[in-house]
This record gives sequence, structure tokens and C-alpha cells, in this order.
Amino acid sequence: MNIVVIGSQWGDEGKGKLIDILSQNTDITARYQGGNNAGHTVIVDDKQYIFHLLPSAILHEGKVCVIGNGVVVDPKALLVEIEELAGKGIKVSAERLRISGLCHVVMPYHRILDGLRETKRKNKIGTTGRGIGPCYADKVTRCGIRVIDLLNPKMLKEKLADNLREKNEIFRKVYGRNDFRFRNIYQEYLAYGKALAPYVCDTAIYLNEAIDQKKSVLFEGAQGTFLDIDFGTYPFVTSSNSIVGGVCAGTGVPPTKIDKAIACVKAYTTRVGEGPFPTEFSTHLEDVIRQKGKEYGATTGRPRRCGWFDSLLVRYSVIINGISELAIMKLDVLDELKEIKICTAYKHKGKIYKTFPMDFEVISEAKPVYETMPGWCTPLTAIRKYGDLPKNARAYLERLEELLKVKVKYISIGSSRSAIIFR
Ligand code: IMO
Ligand code: MG
Repeated sequence: MNIVVIGSQWGDEGKGKLIDILSQNTDITARYQGGNNAGHTVIVDDKQYIFHLLPSAILHEGKVCVIGNGVVVDPKALLVEIEELAGKGIKVSAERLRISGLCHVVMPYHRILDGLRETKRKNKIGTTGRGIGPCYADKVTRCGIRVIDLLNPKMLKEKLADNLREKNEIFRKVYGRNDFRFRNIYQEYLAYGKALAPYVCDTAIYLNEAIDQKKSVLFEGAQGTFLDIDFGTYPFVTSSNSIVGGVCAGTGVPPTKIDKAIACVKAYTTRVGEGPFPTEFSTHLEDVIRQKGKEYGATTGRPRRCGWFDSLLVRYSVIINGISELAIMKLDVLDELKEIKICTAYKHKGKIYKTFPMDFEVISEAKPVYETMPGWCTPLTAIRKYGDLPKNARAYLERLEELLKVKVKYISIGSSRSAIIFR
């Protein structure tokens, strides 16, 4: 069975934890888009691991992790991640990590440009500053450098020289910055190529052959549906296709080989960075939820914005991702609330919207229409059976199922690996 797990909101839905659990029963876990802008937190035996580029499944011995061609790789960040894991006793051997030679490489000028572009914008995106947008831009402009180029000194030399010729002029004339020195970058990235070489292969062939041999693959989405470059709240999005559709282009595994898509959904909503957020709390509730849910970005440490559950967002995500199962994460964060709201529509200039609108002005200005449900006011973390959940908690979940037209299969009620209910 080949399964995709995606985020249904603005990222940080708890994908890391779900992947950690599901990957125990799959052979291979593959990333297909994004880069080290992602931050997936997994807590095992009170030890916290935060993954940025490596699939969270790397924690399981004997399982293979793949970084598919759709991912943008910052080699420095990846090598640090591998080293840090080694320090915690987890060895990432070449048998356990496969990186596509076709992945585009995040270069120093991408990281710098990410920050500089933000300073020039009137409406800042609030990016993670990891160079993700500029790297994908170069991929599409057709001047990007790929992982395979790092293994070929002649190719790297040509491409890097070509890039610096143009980029240095932009840095000087537009941003008043000093030049990037060819020699330094060339030597640095050749060394990365050497360090990564053992992991590099044609991951499209690797994955397809594995699937033909009846091995199972879990595709790990980064970010969320509303950060998707096409379907997200553009321009406040990331630069890749985080939706299920991104899997095929980002790994070379065809749609006919994908069996199922699971949506990871937070029991409320959060967002890091700028951009519209119709159900954002305007009250002290934001502090309450942020504290209880530890809502700080795993990559940048920024406080996450928090709000009520928005069923328009998630229903849209269910449709475009072909979701057949929901994983509701962090339900326990709502434990102490007397009342819980669910957004069931937007209202804008007298018009009611029942599906997520396209018009940025509507999304930005719409007022949410809420349904209010009673809270359960009971700690959920120790519960392991659906039937043992308080009546009001079940009513909340079942109302979400009605609105989203999908069954809830997993319910996370705490941060540890074991704090999950399978239904
Ligand atoms: P995971 O995988 C939450 C947000 C940034 C910013 C926008 C664009 O942990 O869910 P970028 O650096 O990608 O160009 O920034 O996207 N963003 C995320 N927000 N979780 C993430 O990943 C994110 N990755 C990017 O905050 O608003
Ligand atoms: Mg995250």
C-alpha cells in the first residue's frame, strides 16, 4: 500500500508524528517537495527530534528514506542534520538514505536573496529565510544547479560561473551588496558533493522498482495545502506543490501507483508567517492555545498565529487531495475550553461563501460564520479508545466528519508517540 500524508491547513499539522507512527509499517518514506523550511517534530521517550530535510522515518532502523527530485536540498543543512542524528546514536547510512540527483540545490545566494527580496516587498511573506523561493525560481528559470552537478566538477564550474555572472550584477546593482566569490562557493559545494555522493541515485527508478517488488512507500508532505504554490493563499505560500498532486512530479511515481491519501489536520488552526487567516483569534485565546499547544515554529521559532477550526479550508483540501482518512492532531490542546467554535462559512459584503473562495480580497476580509459546540473540560491524553473519549469530544469529531465528508481514523491526544487513538 502506497500512502500520501499531507497537511490540510497552513503546515505544522503534526505530520511528523503521524509519519513516525505510519512509517513503522512501511518500507520506504519519501519526501517530494519543499526543503529545510519544513520542521517536523517527533518525540520519542522524552527525546525531541526536529527534522527539516530528512523524512521523520529515519528514526526507524531498517527503513529507507528517500529525498525525491521535487525537494530542494541545502547540502549544508542536510549534512548538519545527518551529523546531529549520529550524535544521538542514529546512523544514517547510504543504505538508508537515497537522494535524487535531480534535486535542485540551495546555494548561498538563494538564502541571501530570500531575505533581501523580503525587505523590498511592501507585503512581506514572512518566509523561513532558507532560500526556498529563490531556489525554486532558478529551477523554473532553468539556471538551477542540481545535486548531480555537485558530483561533476566541470558542470558545477560552468553552472556556478554562469549564475554568479548574473547574480553578482543583481546583488551589486539592485541590493548594493558585495560580490559572491566563485572560488569559495565552488570549493564548498564540491566538498558537499563528495559528502553526499554515497546517497545519490535515481530515486524514481529506485521507488518504482521497490513498488513493483511489493514494497510499501509512504510519501511525506511538507507544509500544507494552503501553502501550496497553486492552491494556497497566494502570494503568501511556499514555492512548491505541497498537495498530493506534487507526489508524481516530485518523485517520478505515477498516480496509478498511489493507493491512498491521508490528511493531517490540527483540531484548530495555526499559521506561521504573514497572509490571510479568517478564523484567527482576536482574543486572549491565542495565548492560551499557543502556550498549551507549544505553538512556536519548529524551523524559525516564531510564535504561530492561532485560530478556530476552519472547515472551508479543510473541505477544500479533502477535495483536491482525494482524502479518504483524517488524522485529527492535538485534540488535547482544546481540553480546557468551555466552548469550541467551528467555522462553517465566510461572509463578505453580504454574500455567504460555503466553499473556500479564490478572490484574495474575499479571503482577507471575510468574516467567519461559526457554529459553537460545548467543550469536554477533561484531559484526553491518557485515553486510548475512541469509545472512552468524553461525549462532547466525540461530538466535535463527528461534526467535523459531517462537514468534511470524510472519516476520522486517527486522533492524537498528546505529543508522545503512544498518545494516539486508532479508530
Ligand atoms: P511544515 O512542513 C509552517 C511558511 C512560512 C511562510 C511561507 C513561505 O513544518 O509544516 P518559505 O520559506 O517556504 O518560502 O516561506 O510558508 N512555511 C511554513 N509554515 N510549516 C512549514 O512547514 C512551513 N514551511 C514554510 O512561514 O509563511
Ligand atoms: Mg513544522
